[in-house]
Amino acid sequence: MNPFESLGLKHDGHTLWVLDQTQLPDAEVWLDGSDPEAMITLIQRLAVRGAPLIGVAAAASLATFAHRSASTSGYAAACAALRAARPTAVNLMWAMDRMKDATDPGAEAQAIFEEDVRLCEDLAQHGSALIQDGEGILTHCNTGGLATAGIGTALGVIRRAFEQGKRLHVYADETRPLLQGGRLTTWELTKLGIPATLITDSMAALLLRDGKVQRVLVGSDRVAANGDFANKVGTYGLAVQARHHGVPFHPMAPFSTVDLACPNGAAIPIEERDQAEVRGYGKLRWAPEAMPTWNPSFDVTPVDLVTSLVLDRGVYSAQELRSGALAICGVKGKVI
Ligand code: MRU
Repeated sequence: MNPFESLGLKHDGHTLWVLDQTQLPDAEVWLDGSDPEAMITLIQRLAVRGAPLIGVAAAASLATFAHRSASTSGYAAACAALRAARPTAVNLMWAMDRMKDATDPGAEAQAIFEEDVRLCEDLAQHGSALIQDGEGILTHCNTGGLATAGIGTALGVIRRAFEQGKRLHVYADETRPLLQGGRLTTWELTKLGIPATLITDSMAALLLRDGKVQRVLVGSDRVAANGDFANKVGTYGLAVQARHHGVPFHPMAPFSTVDLACPNGAAIPIEERDQAEVRGYGKLRWAPEAMPTWNPSFDVTPVDLVTSLVLDRGVYSAQELRSGALAICGVKGKVI
């Protein structure tokens, strides 16, 4: 593969390196993800995460494996195993379906990487047009350069609006239980110099009530054909709160996150993670060791709570989504 580099992933032409997101913001440690089995572990323990990035990383790992040693059957088995590493983000399946039949895996993985960069740019262009000068923006989880090969989805839109000179203030949900907002979004916002405040998830409703937030922007792991979408657990609650307070709510995603084979949100598989993640974090445990917990990693927000969905292909209102705009846009390509 040709060398490439993004915020959380790089290839030096021989080895694929993954920035271990579990160690951020305290340490920037790069791990070898060239072997598909190692990559599956990295994906499952969220060292590499974010819907678009896990697709890109899995493709690059598979291409490196193919270049080094893979037999045809070994390649097919690795592709299938990577595809099943996490169930909710459809970008992983989308990328592996492309890699499965690729005649040149290196070129295909490179194309997937470059495409994700471009999709983020197009998405940022559409999304930033929605943002007005002076807005307070609430966001959830991490949707920036750490979650994609490019500038990100919701956080990429915020970044682009900030670069356009709009005065913004970002409120970042810490995002329980794995703190992607508290650890990763804050790390990116600090690097970018964007004014921001970190809040715990349970403070969001108060901020909305007090008029501090003019817009809620979130990413997505899978958008169903009717516009329902899955994203990091807590997104649905934010959508309900935003609707109650009359604040616009926008999911944002590249078209690789749209699953036209999935008719609605009820058909989206939701990952359930280890119970220990709710009882504590890292070495710290605050609940009794045997305390039963529930740990769905994602929730589904119905299209009725969406103001508009921002894709790289344009901006779609809830009404357009309900009347099948995604299927039309999937056939026609870019519509704006
Ligand atoms: O479990 P994670 O950290 O992979 O979840 C990530 C999210 O839910 C993001 O919001 C989503 O992938 C979209 S980011 C481009």
